[in-house]
Amino acid sequence: MSPRFRPLVLIASAAALTVAVEATPLFSSGPPTGMASNRPNYANCTQCHSGIVNSSNASLTLSGVPVVYTPGATYTITVSLTQSTAMRWGFEIVAQDPAGGQAGSFTVTDPNNTQLLLGAGSVEYVMHTDVGTKPGTPNGNSWTMDWTAPAAGFGKVVFAASGNAANDIFTTTGDKITNACVSSEEDDGSVPLALVAAQPNTIYAQRNFTWLVPVRVTNTQAFSQNLFVVARIKLPNGSYYPSTGWLYGPTAVSVNAGATKSVTISLPIPSGAPLVSPKLEVFVGTPAAGAMNQDTFVFTVVP
Ligand code: HEC
Repeated sequence: MSPRFRPLVLIASAAALTVAVEATPLFSSGPPTGMASNRPNYANCTQCHSGIVNSSNASLTLSGVPVVYTPGATYTITVSLTQSTAMRWGFEIVAQDPAGGQAGSFTVTDPNNTQLLLGAGSVEYVMHTDVGTKPGTPNGNSWTMDWTAPAAGFGKVVFAASGNAANDIFTTTGDKITNACVSSEEDDGSVPLALVAAQPNTIYAQRNFTWLVPVRVTNTQAFSQNLFVVARIKLPNGSYYPSTGWLYGPTAVSVNAGATKSVTISLPIPSGAPLVSPKLEVFVGTPAAGAMNQDTFVFTVVP
């Protein structure tokens, strides 16, 4: 096993412990919670399933997530997963505030194909059932559920999901894992012009490798915007790297009205990078308006 995967294995065994305690149904009958590529650990189905995340031609989309939500309103959300060679399908989705707490509440409206399990911190995870994997079905699958927005004053919500376009051989090999996330902001009269959510493929940044951090930028406005993404590191001692300016960007991204677009931040981790757990701070904005919105998460540099 290459050292590259060692931290992931540690997480996988931690997940296995949680599973034993919470008696979560395994595995094609429902993955463990905490695998929706969501806060705080951003773990996904590759904790057990083979494959490099987001590397196949699979596509995972979250439709029906409101760009701007009305507090207390209910929305129907559809998770769709497509891929050209897969024959069996699975997913897991969450709605969280930027600190990782539960945002609003999900309602299972299709209990044959979907189920809801509570994970750490009472976060709700909606995922496939065994029947809901549709064994032997080509091209794709989708799952539908309702989400009721939180009460007024809650603010930004991030929906995160991980999907498995599987080969239907009842194992964890040869499957294709894809992550997705979308932000939603409360309709409170002060909606930022754009929202940003980071969804790292892994929170372990390995020396001598290029670390990939997909970022989703959502345009909350009714007109298209030319936006910019930048990122910097906040070290445990409070200082920034670099001390002025940005480690990544500004990278331009033009986003249509109400749409979400992906930008992948790629950061080569130098061989001498200190082995610390700093924060990555990601901002979206324009030179004229400055930063409109940010997302931040803790990551760990590993040898
Ligand atoms: C803790 C380990 C673990 C994690 C994490 C995990 N799985 Fe699995 N999964 C398994 C095992 C083991 C199997 C094979 C046994 C079985 O089919 O029940 C499996 C099988 C599957 C299958 C059927 C595969 C096939 O080819 O027949 C699907 C679909 C699936 N998982 C979806 C998911 C999704 C979606 C996630 C992430 C949200 C996920 N799994 C995360 C362990 C895991």
